[in-house]
Amino acid sequence: MKQKVQPAEGKLGILIPGLGAVATTLIAGVIASRRGLAEPVGSLTQTGHIRIGKRTDNNYPKIKDFVPVAKLEDIVFGGWDVYEDNVYQAASIAKVLDQHLLDSIKDELEQIAPMKAVFDKSYVENLDGHHVKTGESKWDLAQQTIKDIQDFKEKNGLNRIVVIWCGSTEKYFEASEIHETVEAFEAALKANDDRIAPSMIYAYAALVQGIPYVNGAPNLTVDTRALVQLSKDTNTPIAGKDFKTGQTLMKTILAPGLEARSLGVRGWFSTNILGNRDGLVLDRPENFKTKEVSKLGVLEDILRPDLHPELYGDLYHKIRINYYPPHGDNKESWDNIDIFGWLGYPMQIKINFLCRDSILAAPVALDLALFADLAKRAGMKGIQEWLSFYLKSPQTKEGLRPENDIFKQLIKLQNTLRYMMGEELITHLGLDYYEEDEA
Ligand SMILES: NC(=O)c1ccc[n+]([C@@H]2O[C@H](COP(=O)([O-])OP(=O)(O)OC[C@H]3O[C@@H](n4cnc5c(N)ncnc54)[C@H](O)[C@@H]3O)[C@@H](O)[C@H]2O)c1
Repeated sequence: MKQKVQPAEGKLGILIPGLGAVATTLIAGVIASRRGLAEPVGSLTQTGHIRIGKRTDNNYPKIKDFVPVAKLEDIVFGGWDVYEDNVYQAASIAKVLDQHLLDSIKDELEQIAPMKAVFDKSYVENLDGHHVKTGESKWDLAQQTIKDIQDFKEKNGLNRIVVIWCGSTEKYFEASEIHETVEAFEAALKANDDRIAPSMIYAYAALVQGIPYVNGAPNLTVDTRALVQLSKDTNTPIAGKDFKTGQTLMKTILAPGLEARSLGVRGWFSTNILGNRDGLVLDRPENFKTKEVSKLGVLEDILRPDLHPELYGDLYHKIRINYYPPHGDNKESWDNIDIFGWLGYPMQIKINFLCRDSILAAPVALDLALFADLAKRAGMKGIQEWLSFYLKSPQTKEGLRPENDIFKQLIKLQNTLRYMMGEELITHLGLDYYEEDEA
């Protein structure tokens, strides 16, 4: 496959619907890293290594030296929001990063002002922005968005673009007949159908132009037959849903360990408090439901009560998110895990994670954008399951169980990179080292 990966020539545009806490933390972080003011901690593409060949070869290049991902210096950011604030103002409101750091890169942050959003309040009731597009129909809004992308590309002299959704979580709804085929979807755009969410319009605008789309929220968006088909028709990678950070990250680290040691789990109660705009949006039950569905599947997929009814058959899994303004973006979460061991004797694990949501999400968003661009240049199209490492509710082919265990997800990601570059895959069998001794 190696000869098929095109080099990362020229500039890469990262276009973001939703310039809120995550997006501004990502943008400011990339600019600060470029200027040597801070380190891009948490980003595998920037700091991670990958083993190539046998353990005895001692060959562990940096991922960014092994695969041709775009350089931070070559990234140009842009986006859309329902509020007019430029990225400096939005980052100052989000209060994730120190004002001192933001002030030191203010000149660049101020240059990035949002384009008018495709917005429909019925999908995010708790927001009130007025920096929004108007048009005859959703088809018209899609055409305006396509033009936004083309203008951005031309104005900045870009070679390639990826679109990554960092907008609010839309209300919960399920796919229907208008999401079945590309034709039905386009007809529904023209008929201004209520069942087309704003995020789907951005995704459509990207995909028809062969531009990769990544879904950082639990929204339905590209998890529909129509948009999966469009991504294949236009040879375009897609990935989703929902950045894996905070509590779910911990869950997908811890649960595989408990399952690996055949320890039982009777209950897992997760609650958290956060006070950012994301928390405000999720304070509405219709929007929380979308998030809840994305978070709930994880444990069941890892623990497999169907295979181990004696260990996980009675598992009670409960998740709560509470909007609590004083904490801002500094989410505090508590997990109470009731486990049992030998002969059924009970034990408990308590986790109190004082995390920073957007500090965890920004490197995930960066890696997803860079890898989606790499996938496009590697000729990959449709759902990119190898990126599930970064996602809370990985989108998979219809009927295929997602893999939520973060360690298996990492092996899948690393082997995909080796595969792209024509290197041997690593199975971790390791018998060959011992067989050599005996030969
Ligand atoms: N912070 C995390 O750790 C984390 C983790 C996983 C997923 N997410 C998801 O990422 C998304 C962003 O999170 P955040 O903390 O940055 O939220 P945020 O509220 O700070 O930012 C979201 C931004 O999207 C804008 N927006 C909403 N609808 C829009 C539309 N149709 N078009 C353009 N802009 C729109 C809002 O005005 C807001 O500025 C949310 O959906 C959140 O659930 C966040």
